[in-house]
Amino acid sequence: SVFKIAGICGSLRKDSFNKKLLLRTQQLCSEHIKGATIEIIDWSQVPIYNQDLESNPPQSVLDFKNSLADHDAIIISTPEYNYSIPGPLKNAIDWASRPVGDRGQVFAGKAVAIIGSGPGSGPGSSGSGRAQFVLRKSLVFLDMVPVNKPLITITDAGHAFNEDGSLINKHFENNIIKVLQNLVKLGKQLKIDPE
Ligand code: FNR
Repeated sequence: SVFKIAGICGSLRKDSFNKKLLLRTQQLCSEHIKGATIEIIDWSQVPIYNQDLESNPPQSVLDFKNSLADHDAIIISTPEYNYSIPGPLKNAIDWASRPVGDRGQVFAGKAVAIIGSGPGSGPGSSGSGRAQFVLRKSLVFLDMVPVNKPLITITDAGHAFNEDGSLINKHFENNIIKVLQNLVKLGKQLKIDPE
């Protein structure tokens, strides 16, 4: 059977570099990873979290949770906002992790890969690395198992892509393929009993 990976972009921006990175990753997956697919999940309609809404969640939240539940693993491509992850992404993860009765059920026991990019190219530009570090903590708490290497932290994102959406630096493309191989390998090995 096909190994199904949910692709999540941490940015809702139309011309998002991280969306571009995720789309390229999806393409590399279909070209290089036999038996695995990435489906990009639209979570843009998830509202601002309010615990009062938890007992009767909006349809957009149920749809988001169902699509996560329907996949074997997750890959997240996220930008860095103020040395952390974008508020909207955290908001969506918070919604999907609730209610407490099935806390993290859609996340627990699954493999996850985190990748990202940013337009900065000067000293201190992390290519979203600091956001990835923050995100990993929440996902580990939700009982996910992260792929640790190779790191995909792409700086100078405005100059990183060819017209056709491929990455100019083939080193990055090779490493994305390795991340996908590791994600599938790890995901297939996991037989964790969720909490
Ligand atoms: C940013 N940006 C940013 N970049 C970075 O490298 N480190 C940071 O801490 C921040 N902080 C930050 C905060 C906020 C609120 C915004 C809107 C932006 C810049 C960010 O990397 C840039 O806007 C990217 O283009 C966002 O990613 P997408 O939308 O291109 O995927």
